[in-house]
Formats: sequence, C-alpha cells, structure tokens
Amino acid sequence: MLNIIICGAPGSGKGTQSALIKDKYNLLHLSTGDLLRAEIAAKSELGRIAEGYIANGQLVPDEMIINILDKAIEEKEAAAQYNGLILDGFPRTVAQAEALEGLMQKRNKDLSVLLDLTVEEDELIDRLIKRGQTSGRSDDNLETIKKRLDVYHEKTEPVNDFYKKQNKYVSVEGTGTIEEIFGRICEVLNKY
Ligand code: AP5
Ligand code: MG
Repeated sequence: MLNIIICGAPGSGKGTQSALIKDKYNLLHLSTGDLLRAEIAAKSELGRIAEGYIANGQLVPDEMIINILDKAIEEKEAAAQYNGLILDGFPRTVAQAEALEGLMQKRNKDLSVLLDLTVEEDELIDRLIKRGQTSGRSDDNLETIKKRLDVYHEKTEPVNDFYKKQNKYVSVEGTGTIEEIFGRICEVLNKY
C-alpha cells in the first residue's frame, strides 16, 4: 500500500500533481477542498457552514473536516480497488495530523510519506490570480489569497515538523513544468 499526503501552500500544485499520481499508482485521491466545494454545490448544511470560512481564506473547524474525510474514505474505498490513498490538503493543522493517526490505525493503514511542494510566494500568487480569471472559486482573489497564505504559514507549516519527527517528510521543488515536477515526485514515490 502507498498512502501519501501531498501538501504545500495554496497554488503549489497539489491538485495538479495528485491527478497524475493517482493515475500512475492507482490511488484514491481525496482533496478536502474538493469535498467541501462539492458540499457547497450540493447546498448541504455542511456546505452552508463551510462557505463562509472558504470565502474568507480561513480553515473550517478541525472536527468538521475530520468527519468529512472519514466518511469519504469509507464511501469511496468501498466503491473500487485502490493501491492506497493520496490526501490533498489534509492534514492542515497539527490537530488534524493527530486525528489522521487514528483514522489510519482503525483501518490498519500506515502513512508512507508526506510530499511538500515548495514554490516561491510570488509565483503562488501569480498562479492563483490567473486561475481566478476562470475558476469561479470564491477564494481566488488577491485579498483572500493573502489570507490563505497567512493561515498556511501559521497553522499548516507546523504540520511539516510533525512528520519530520517521524522521518516521513520529503520536500519537492514545485517550480518548473508540470511534467518536471511529476518526475521529481515519481523519483521519491518509486522508493516506496
Ligand atoms: P484547497 O482546495 O485545498 O485549496 P488550497 O490549499 O488553497 O490550494 P489550491 O487548491 O488552490 O492549490 P493547489 O495546491 O491544489 O494547486 P493547483 O494544482 O490547483 O482548500 C480551499 C479551502 O478549503 C481552504 O482555504 C479552507 O477554507 C478549506 N479547507 C480545505 N481543506 C481543509 C482542511 N484540511 N482543514 C480546514 N479547512 C480546509 O494549482 C494552482 C494553479 O496553478 C492552477 O491553475 C494550475 O493549473 C497552476 N499550476 C499548477 N502547476 C503549475 C506549474 N508547474 N507551473 C505553472 N502553473 C501551474
Ligand atoms: Mg487544490
């Protein structure tokens, strides 16, 4: 089994690279951002709560996102055969990383590695502003992008230390062409 976390700042390419990784290694791709946007599109109660946090560049409460992820693993793993999981945008706080240990343990799974995509801040902002011209995402505007970056530094970067202590942290240079970055990721993943 190959169970990986892909993390990095907003716009670092988590979604783009996950799409390539999941196909090559036959992994179940779970993006908590995508799960939340699906709840919003479905106009569910969860979506209604999440909407305000997302548009403000803030994280939704830990307990809420942990429940959503737990349910999604349950439902989607039952639907097809996979060689493992790729978690995109989760965990984003140390409390979420601690909760993930429990979610994995109860399924007899082990985390293989966390891949951290590193990209300079100017480039992140450029990418997200550009995407905002067509994405329709409520958080792809300069004001909210800046808040997302602040929240990333304050709450999500400490998660890296959590996995460094377990020797599961690998940083991957996230600039260059999409294929170049994917090549770097495969070099790491092929060791597992
Ligand atoms: P989420 O959906 O996870 O957004 P994010 O982390 O801000 O990151 P993005 O999805 O915007 O970027 P990405 O890294 O996937 O990059 P992408 O591949 O799209 O979260 C959104 C919100 O949901 C959060 O702010 C929070 O409110 C809530 N949330 C989600 N998870 C949560 C959690 N666990 N706890 C609490 N709240 C949570 O690429 C970006 C752009 O760059 C694209 O246009 C792409 O085409 C382009 N691009 C990609 N690679 C390259 C390249 N190599 N060169 C040039 N351009 C590139
Ligand atoms: Mg994404």
